[in-house]
Amino acid sequence: MKNTVATLAAMKRNGEKISQLTCYDYSTAKLIDAAGINMILVGDSLGMTMQGYKDTLPVTVDEMIVYGRSVVRGCKETFVVVDMPFMSYQISIEQAMQNAGRIMKETGASAVKLEGGKEVCPQIRAITAAGIPVVAHIGMTPQSVNAFGGFTVQGKGEANARRVLEDALAVQEAGAFAVTLECVPPKLSALITKKLDIITIGIGASPECDAQVLVWQDMLGISDFKPKFAKHFAEVGETMREAFRAYDGEVKSGVFPASEHTFVKSDCTEEFLAS
Ligand code: KIV
Ligand code: NA
Repeated sequence: MKNTVATLAAMKRNGEKISQLTCYDYSTAKLIDAAGINMILVGDSLGMTMQGYKDTLPVTVDEMIVYGRSVVRGCKETFVVVDMPFMSYQISIEQAMQNAGRIMKETGASAVKLEGGKEVCPQIRAITAAGIPVVAHIGMTPQSVNAFGGFTVQGKGEANARRVLEDALAVQEAGAFAVTLECVPPKLSALITKKLDIITIGIGASPECDAQVLVWQDMLGISDFKPKFAKHFAEVGETMREAFRAYDGEVKSGVFPASEHTFVKSDCTEEFLAS
């Protein structure tokens, strides 16, 4: 079944959990789509996982479009959300609409995501008014890493908890159809999930969130980064390291390629070799 804003909203109403993973390329998208994952986020985390930057700030709209359309081509049923990168929506409503429009037109994605609460509600209102579904992202918002002084848990203490709750209510009111809660403690995440009609997507949040998201390299044990919330569902990184070492060994010892890996039947004749 193709996932849409309507089927995802129905899942929330029926109390069914929604799965989401990040993805940045066609081959992985096909695997994620075939596994029945409901949503993909082409996250600006690609600045770190795919490009090796220390944070997400250098990522551009053009780059999000390249990765985004590669993912969309790999998906038959999974709902694809593309992140709006740092400084592609903060400057003005007009800038936000232009970039959201480019992302939708040039990737074929089904929604965009942007970071922030009350302060980005004018942008959320305008983008949704143009018929583009929006996922908001509150709590620990990585594009603000310099303001936070690190990738740290948000919503500690009553005043901060109230601010996160108010941001959640504000983005819902502005028209977002879902909101990502990153590094928001479990009781606060559960409270927000109960108070909102829109989908809450947790990462380092609570099992009570309507949906969960993880970065795929984190959940497969490929990245060096091991945040508290990143459960390894497989040690694919170790499997890859072993395969790379085996390949290196076989190339150097001459074991690979064996005759079954070569085009023996099409080969030149003995006469040709002697000529
Ligand atoms: O960019 C990203 O991968 C994200 C998720 C971690 C929510 O925003
Ligand atoms: Na992101």
